[in-house]
Amino acid sequence: MEALKDGEIMAKAIGILTSGGDAPGMNAAVRAVTRAALAKGIKVYGIRRGYNGLINGDIVELGARDVSGIMQRGGTVLYTARCPEFRTEEGIAKAAENCKKMGVDGIVVIGGDGSFRGAADLSRHGILCIGLPGTIDNDIACTEYTIGYDTAMNTAMEMIDKLRDTTQSHDRCSVVEVMGRRAGYIALNVGLASGAEAVLTLEEGYDLDEIAASMINASKTGKKHFIIVVAEGVGNAEGIARELQEKTQIEARATILGHVQRGGIPTLRDRVIATEMGYYAVELLEQDISNRVVGMKDGKIYDVDIQEALSMKKEFPHKRYKIVHDTAF
Ligand code: ADP
Ligand code: F6P
Repeated sequence: MEALKDGEIMAKAIGILTSGGDAPGMNAAVRAVTRAALAKGIKVYGIRRGYNGLINGDIVELGARDVSGIMQRGGTVLYTARCPEFRTEEGIAKAAENCKKMGVDGIVVIGGDGSFRGAADLSRHGILCIGLPGTIDNDIACTEYTIGYDTAMNTAMEMIDKLRDTTQSHDRCSVVEVMGRRAGYIALNVGLASGAEAVLTLEEGYDLDEIAASMINASKTGKKHFIIVVAEGVGNAEGIARELQEKTQIEARATILGHVQRGGIPTLRDRVIATEMGYYAVELLEQDISNRVVGMKDGKIYDVDIQEALSMKKEFPHKRYKIVHDTAF
């Protein structure tokens, strides 16, 4: 890529923001967008704290060195927030006006479905908008993969491995709740990878009597400890632990892993995909393409209209759930 010559004026300017819950790998996307855009002679602005920064003008110009050393850091250097004002027509108009004042032609929004709704609104005001899927939940229908998903699952798996040590030492049952909002993707994969005896998700439903009966049967054959993974959407880990203890007479404890799943050093997969998606977003903006979400389909990066993306439904991997169920005891 040819560098700009002295005195040459950048033809275009774009902004980048992270919105909604943070996710490991967001920084890799920020770096990729910044460096790819600068290499094409596009000026880059970092917008802080999601849509709040657009409304309040909390915007800084980013140079190549400003995104050095951030690839391997969790969280988001741009900070993130939820911004109720951006859900109002006045808020969106103010944000669009600020973009125009600063000469920002386009925005890359890294976030989830909510953030993409905001991006669609902004694009109606003449700002080019591209969404990148950033959430640990993997609950965005138009993409097989979301930035942060892999790191969060690895973190949860590591925690459950630790939990298994103490659960085994005490001949107990651990009921462990993992994040995912209403989606059970983290629970399913982490449950499988940590050899959980049961995975409870909203998508598949569950029967505590059946789980208790399997635990009692298994304990007769020498199995004395159990890991039950509960998706956040199902909730009530404490109540489930109590009920299982009553039904089985096996001592049970509840653990809610919580926000620890959102932090930490991003895995290779998150860094690679975030970088590819960030690069792709700049290619779209360079061509004045707007109102698109970048996603992954059949392992390849692609883009899709935001409204279409928001109307899609995501399949739950029922076969994988059956595998967990059929290999649990
Ligand atoms: P996520 O992007 O992870 O789904 P949220 O649903 O909290 O997270 O959305 C993040 C932000 O996107 C909100 O705080 C708000 O600023 C903006 N947003 C969400 N929904 C809308 C909407 N319907 N219209 C405009 N902006 C929205
Ligand atoms: O969307 C990511 C996520 O961590 C969900 O798994 C969880 O339900 C939610 O965000 C928690 O949000 P907050 O950070 O507002 O507690």
